[in-house]
Amino acid sequence: MYDSDGKRYLDGIGGTHTITIGHGVPEIADAMAAQARKLCFTHKVQFTNEPQEQLANVVAKMAPKEMEHVVFVTGGSTANEIALQIARYYFMEQGNTNKYKAIGRWHSYHGRTNAALSMSGNLFVQREDMTPYQLDFPHINPPHCYQCPFDFNYPNCKFACAIALAEKIEQEGADTIAAFIVEPIIGEAGSAIVPLPGYYEKIREICDFYNILFIAEEVVTGFGRTGKNFGIEHWNTRSNHNRKRVK
Ligand SMILES: Cc1ncc(COP(=O)(O)O)c(C=O)c1O
Repeated sequence: MYDSDGKRYLDGIGGTHTITIGHGVPEIADAMAAQARKLCFTHKVQFTNEPQEQLANVVAKMAPKEMEHVVFVTGGSTANEIALQIARYYFMEQGNTNKYKAIGRWHSYHGRTNAALSMSGNLFVQREDMTPYQLDFPHINPPHCYQCPFDFNYPNCKFACAIALAEKIEQEGADTIAAFIVEPIIGEAGSAIVPLPGYYEKIREICDFYNILFIAEEVVTGFGRTGKNFGIEHWNTRSNHNRKRVK
């Protein structure tokens, strides 16, 4: 890429990780142009359309087992707002209208819209400036061994960063919490924080125990960018409702 002074840049991270296959790929441009000449938009209330259905099938095949419904939205922030709303609906359908909060993690980023920013814990984005619009969502520390927020070392820490989730749920009341949202590998806001094996397994146990949905936010880590189709697939986080006690 060249800027207005002709300075040359190597777009090493692909915009914000979005241009995974590079700029100006002819096949993509051709497919977009061909579609734009045919049909530009249909409203989802009345219609679906062929390319959308084909893409949904591709995504469903890539997704972890049993995840077979796809909702198309306009970007990452909207995806996270919708995920939060789906979590609320999930509990409302069971007659539980009280579970509405999401717990997020510090050093995470879920977008600039109000609920997404409320779930975010990015210390570089000035959440405080937007305080009047913020939802009062709790946060816990990230699994950041390099600068452990608890000043522990693994394995003596016994995953204090995961146990912090159980503690936060107890403080807030499990009956108010709908979901825990994470970037499986924390992206820009934490410069690629990769949890140790066992962390997400513990998180899953805690979520199951307290009946809280676990949202893997794959805006950056999805679609093969970490070597698996989705980042969370590096850990075993499938729900197992037979698990009971959390130490
Ligand atoms: C992890 C993560 N989630 C959500 C978003 C927000 O996505 P968007 O800018 O498409 O709303 C970003 C943007 O960088 C992101 O890195």
